[in-house]
Amino acid sequence: MPANGLTVVDLTHAYGTEPVLRRVSLTVGSGTSAALMGPSGCGKTTLLLAAAGILVPEAGRVLVAGETVPAGSADSRAAFRRSRVGLVFQFGELIAELTLEQNVALAAELGGVRRRQALHDAREVLVRVGLSAVRGHKPGTVSGGQAQRAAIARAIVHRPELVLADEPTGALDSANGDAVLDLLLELVAERGATLLVVTHDERVARRCDRRIVMSDGRIVDG
Ligand SMILES: Nc1ncnc2c1ncn2[C@@H]1O[C@H](COP(=O)(O)OP(=O)(O)OP(=O)(O)O)[C@@H](O)[C@H]1O
Ligand SMILES: [Mg+2]
Repeated sequence: MPANGLTVVDLTHAYGTEPVLRRVSLTVGSGTSAALMGPSGCGKTTLLLAAAGILVPEAGRVLVAGETVPAGSADSRAAFRRSRVGLVFQFGELIAELTLEQNVALAAELGGVRRRQALHDAREVLVRVGLSAVRGHKPGTVSGGQAQRAAIARAIVHRPELVLADEPTGALDSANGDAVLDLLLELVAERGATLLVVTHDERVARRCDRRIVMSDGRIVDG
């Protein structure tokens, strides 16, 4: 079980001269979920990108399960991310040329699992998200809700300690949105993962353990 979840310390970032994160600090413990809320442009996605090691912040640091997210080469950051972090965005962004199963298996392989095991893990997680019947379909031939569930499967197949989700239910109707959130919260409950989910949806926020509210690059509540 991961011990420490997500810790962000004094994270500071600007795009050009425009400050976007102003010494943001927060902790989300393992086995817990937090909704990240706040007006458009306040820095939520930027915070997620920094937590994932995609963006290197100007100052401050991020720890996942007690380990500092590397600030070095893109390769070292990608390796860290692939093994420890699961990312889900509003529009799943699956690879169009690959089947759902291949999309998920690829993520497992990138996380360090051998191909045969990756395929096995992909099938298992696709059953879990209710997609075994369409596992051989390409993303363009399934519904939006199915594609988003496949994106969740892809994000969790390597059992990440931290799941970062940016409006994962934003493009879905309420039934599909509920199903996607169910999956993410199950991961937290069963595996002790940490979930930070950006949302504008009060229904999503209510189901998380707590909410963190940002405004103009700062945490103002939570
Ligand atoms: N790549 C970029 N280059 C320059 N400015 C950027 C870039 N990405 C974001 N910004 C700016 O940084 C600020 C924060 O953006 P961010 O995407 O983190 O906001 P957000 O809270 O996720 O908003 P939304 O709810 O609309 O998704 C905004 O003013 C935005 O215009
Ligand atoms: Mg955003």
